[in-house]
Amino acid sequence: MAEFRLPPNSRPVRGATHRAAPGVRELRTLRIYRYDPDSGANPRIDVFELDARTLGPMVLDALIQIKAAIDSSLTFRRSCREGICGSCAMNINGINRLACTTSMQDLGAEIRIYPLPHLPVVKDLVGDLSTFYAQYAAVKPWLQARTPAPPDHERLQSKEEQEQIDRPAACILCACCSTACPSYWWNSERYLGPAALLAAYRWIIDSRDEATGERLDELEDPFRLYRCHTIMNCTDVCPKDLNPAKAIAEIKKMLAGRHG
Ligand code: SF4
Ligand code: SF4
Ligand code: FES
Repeated sequence: MAEFRLPPNSRPVRGATHRAAPGVRELRTLRIYRYDPDSGANPRIDVFELDARTLGPMVLDALIQIKAAIDSSLTFRRSCREGICGSCAMNINGINRLACTTSMQDLGAEIRIYPLPHLPVVKDLVGDLSTFYAQYAAVKPWLQARTPAPPDHERLQSKEEQEQIDRPAACILCACCSTACPSYWWNSERYLGPAALLAAYRWIIDSRDEATGERLDELEDPFRLYRCHTIMNCTDVCPKDLNPAKAIAEIKKMLAGRHG
């Protein structure tokens, strides 16, 4: 049987433990992945014990408190604190989610926090999203129309046409879906992944766009699209309740329809 082993310097070792003051009755223990590729040291898991009664409700509140009061070197992304910017996506208790919308109460007394899986780590909880963004750019996520816009008003859509793109356009590019997708883990250089494919779909079905044929041509490739094996992790983890797996299936149907 094949045996898989991680390179020795990629295995997390035990890091520092920051104990809570004695007598804390409601303890939250956060085990947080720490890694600085420039240091040459292995990643480590630091333990932070916090008094739950002094914490804000969300995981991001705890990270901000740790950074402000215990260890200012803890590195993570965040911006809006409202589930809108997508920057605080991380792996919390084994699931990709947004730290700012994940309630600590739902996680129990012990919380494990890692960066999004299968990305090179820039530092601590910050993954390198360069490939992810390049894939998003590759699907040309903007309107392509040869017909000039009407001189006196914008290009209009009916209510029904707008409703078709309303949900796919709500993607916040958090990368929770793509980094939860096994097909993306193994082929992230060649498979576009669910987030980029959802963006492609959003423009393919936009009634104002006139590049549908070219967009479909670009996706007709054994890797870019067809690496999706409908495993559905993407849809399960999306914090905005979007359905990239369905969008991918719809693109496959459109391509099959062209050959039918
Ligand atoms: S449905 Fe496709 S894109 Fe989504 S997790 Fe599965 S293989 Fe990946
Ligand atoms: S589809 Fe959902 S999980 Fe994927 S990037 Fe967009 S918002 Fe995030
Ligand atoms: S900080 Fe913007 S989504 Fe969490």
